[in-house]
Amino acid sequence: MKKRDLLSLTDLSRREIDALLKRSMAIKKRWKKGHADYPLAGMSLGLVFDKPSTRTRVSFEVAMIQLGGHPIYLDPGTTQIKRGEPIADSARVLSRYLDGVVIRTFEQATVEEWARWSSAPVINGLTDLLHPCQVFCDLLTIVEKLGGYKGMKVAYVGDGNNMANTWIQAASLLDFPLSLACPEGYQPNPKILAQARQHSKGRTEMIPDPYQAVEGADVVYTDVWASMGQEKESKERKKRFKGFQVNSELLSKARKGALVMHCLPAHAGEEISAEVLEGPQSVVFDQAENRLHGQKAILEWLLKDIHR
Ligand code: CP
Ligand code: NVA
Repeated sequence: MKKRDLLSLTDLSRREIDALLKRSMAIKKRWKKGHADYPLAGMSLGLVFDKPSTRTRVSFEVAMIQLGGHPIYLDPGTTQIKRGEPIADSARVLSRYLDGVVIRTFEQATVEEWARWSSAPVINGLTDLLHPCQVFCDLLTIVEKLGGYKGMKVAYVGDGNNMANTWIQAASLLDFPLSLACPEGYQPNPKILAQARQHSKGRTEMIPDPYQAVEGADVVYTDVWASMGQEKESKERKKRFKGFQVNSELLSKARKGALVMHCLPAHAGEEISAEVLEGPQSVVFDQAENRLHGQKAILEWLLKDIHR
């Protein structure tokens, strides 16, 4: 049977996302009641991270342990990867030991190359282009808080980065309205935007004015102005992103009680005001917790072949 990978949210169908969301909630409920299940006993998950991580690394490692399996963090600097062993060889070797691999790196092509050669499922733990596990787990938080995603409006304010691109894919797959306000020159990936617009009948809109974008939104989402690898652009970006901060004034245009979400790490005072980040509408820590529960469902699904 053919293995499955999760390199992009579009590797999943709407039906599969719905099933995984349901499964995540069931797993979380059992865990909170104190039940332990070990469906991945004896299995190992490798984590090959070319960029730093707090949430993704720890939530995947803990998820694997709580499911009875074993995570192995592979700092590329301490493996032969950094010394130039090709991905084709590293992937073929590692997947003879491991039951799954999470890759965090720069180019989307790198995770695709891993998936091409790995006989075990490959999971995208963030690239410059996409962050599928994050948005899947964010959907879990939204379903818990709002009772579902049908009919909700999401507004994304800030950089047209990996988070924005993945939200565009989510909106197109699940057919909810999405408004994005990104400064000129910092727009999302045009190919992803064009594909989504084709599928979702124009429900994904680029709106230059952040105030207009958040109007009536049920979820207001933002992310850092300078992503990992863009640190040198930080100063310039701070200037260009002026007016794109999620603060109380902006939030007042959204639906009353709208959820404020951020994948974290946050820079309070830049993309989001401290007041909003710490305010009653912010769900960022529940959101961070759900990385653990949602990714358990992803691991079970990919590693146990239950989708076949
Ligand atoms: N949100 C997220 O992916 O966080 P980390 O960079 O800490 O993994
Ligand atoms: N856009 C951010 C997300 C971090 C989780 C980055 O790529 O650094």
